[in-house]
Amino acid sequence: MTDLRALLDDLYAEGQAFDATRPDRRDRRRNLEPDAAELLTMLLRVGGARDIVEIGTSNGYSTLWLAAAARDTGGTVTTVDVAPPAEALANAERAGLRAQITFETGDGGAYLTGRPDHSVDLLFLDADRPEYPSWWPHPKRVLRPGGVLAIDNVLSHPDEVRPFLALIAADPALTAATFAVGKGLHVAVHLPG
Ligand SMILES: C[S@@+](CC[C@H](N)C(=O)[O-])C[C@H]1O[C@@H](n2cnc3c(N)ncnc32)[C@H](O)[C@@H]1O
Repeated sequence: MTDLRALLDDLYAEGQAFDATRPDRRDRRRNLEPDAAELLTMLLRVGGARDIVEIGTSNGYSTLWLAAAARDTGGTVTTVDVAPPAEALANAERAGLRAQITFETGDGGAYLTGRPDHSVDLLFLDADRPEYPSWWPHPKRVLRPGGVLAIDNVLSHPDEVRPFLALIAADPALTAATFAVGKGLHVAVHLPG
């Protein structure tokens, strides 16, 4: 993990420097903050999650965090992005985590629509936030009982996520809380039973 952590730290620093040179946020890497990645992967490990889905790959920074934890639980990560994953693929090879990751190119909402019921242990949404409500109910439908839905940027972009968080709050099968790590991580658990 030490070497991997050094690679992750390098990628994060490189991403910060890269983003500072890109005025249009759509051209940025917008990597997950390391403390949010720590919390997310702790949840993954505690729950023993094995079927992990991420929407929003970028250059694969958060994917590598998830894949390293998935390696410990015997699981795999499927990561979906509208953009081809060339950089993320290269980073997965560098990290020695290529075997843990399936890359899908396409729309995250369409991907979730095609997933079977109750087939995901942990779903991480880190894509185009205003689109999330149009994906409902699939982010919840795909979760196994006890599965986790995590959404980044809920404190940095509260207006953009409010409609989606309201859908979660209104669902009696989910219980949720926001954690003030990174840019704000909202975590919902699909209650068993
Ligand atoms: C914030 S970045 C992801 C950062 C990445 N999770 C990380 O921490 O390294 C958002 C990504 O979502 C992708 N994206 C935007 N809309 C999408 C959609 N509808 N479906 C899938 N990916 C989408 C963008 O191409 C971009 O790469």
